[in-house]
Amino acid sequence: MNDKPIFIKNANELITLKGSSDAPLTKAGMNELHILNNGSVWIEAGKIAAIGTAEELKVKYRAKLESAMIVDAAGKIVLPGLVDPHTHIVYAGSRENEFNMRLNGATYMEIMNNGGGIHATTSKTREASHEQLFAESMKRLDSFLKHGVTTVEAKSGYGLDWETEKKQLEVAKRLNETHVIDIVSTFMGAHAIPAQYKENPDAFVDLVVTEMIPKVVEEKLAEFNDVFCERGVFTPEQSRRILEAGKQYGLIPKIHADEIEPYEGAELAAEVGAISADHLLRASDKGMLAMAQAGVIGVLLPGTAFFLMAESAKGRKMIDMGVPVALSTDCNPGSSPTTSLPFIMNLACMKMGMTPAEAITAATINAAHAINRSKEIGSLEVGKKADIVIMDVPNYMQLAYHYGMNHTDTVIKAGKIVVQGGSIC
Ligand code: NIG
Ligand code: FE
Repeated sequence: MNDKPIFIKNANELITLKGSSDAPLTKAGMNELHILNNGSVWIEAGKIAAIGTAEELKVKYRAKLESAMIVDAAGKIVLPGLVDPHTHIVYAGSRENEFNMRLNGATYMEIMNNGGGIHATTSKTREASHEQLFAESMKRLDSFLKHGVTTVEAKSGYGLDWETEKKQLEVAKRLNETHVIDIVSTFMGAHAIPAQYKENPDAFVDLVVTEMIPKVVEEKLAEFNDVFCERGVFTPEQSRRILEAGKQYGLIPKIHADEIEPYEGAELAAEVGAISADHLLRASDKGMLAMAQAGVIGVLLPGTAFFLMAESAKGRKMIDMGVPVALSTDCNPGSSPTTSLPFIMNLACMKMGMTPAEAITAATINAAHAINRSKEIGSLEVGKKADIVIMDVPNYMQLAYHYGMNHTDTVIKAGKIVVQGGSIC
């Protein structure tokens, strides 16, 4: 940790993504990384103060050069800290037993309908103390940081009762205050229908709408409101009600849409003006078009498709249709137990036909847009927060090409070096 100015110099490629803070990038724009070869950055007071060649910055800051920390990025790439816009990191326990069951032929929904899946993690999360949840989630955040991720969205949804939903959101708040990674919170009380409401799911929707949402807002515990819109979970009608109720209270809608079956979730996202629709493995053409027209960001999670052994979302088609696409790990104990956003970027190329450049856009500025943070993070521009990652590869294409490896060398968070040589310092 240090408070000195930082001078990152001579990056092989400085990937700026400049000019993209106002609206998410779409179509050919997603391929435009705005790379500066031999680029350098001057960081001061937690912010990006200047970008240019090493010579330019040396002249500009000659009076401060002696006191600055010099980070030599020769042979490496420098890019905005990665942003993960969809995770379920605050949970207890793990579900490798279900992984084994799925490998033997059981499906994700069968396991959930038999009381496992989200219900299994809900039981563990209800039993866990605040301290235990905090400690388990801190470990996951450390792992995110080591993979170059500097901002993470975190959902509740393993409580399904107010007491536990509140506990999860309070843990997320404390994580935000404690860990160097910034955490952005989403309320997801409508993640599954608790067993006692199985015969009367609308009564649970009533509880979410009339009691939980008002309390979330009153206690300032979240900015976004999400729902698992899926056959056998929440119907499009119930999802609409939950998202509209959140809007009344100022919560921005997000939606788990068309993950297992086509269910008009993408259409609903466009209708309610959601900031993002996530998953979309089985989204209809009509739904994708509606999203493109309404500017709803498609947060794609190819790690989930990989881990559930399902066909990935049609990322290529969505980009060509004009949907702004972002990428995320979906980090959770059931459908995607990983913190490696770089691996997700590789999967986006391999399984969804995206280019390495599009994958970088999707995991930086478009991801920042998906959590309403595009003015502060997601690109390297003067005045933005100095959330920067240095990857030990000579060009951006190698990031996706050397798959399953962690190339993170240095992470700078809000102007402080927090990872050096791949280790947290
Ligand atoms: O995004 N699909 C719903 N929710 C999570 C999985 C949660 C779990 O299985 O624990 C998801 O995939
Ligand atoms: Fe999810």
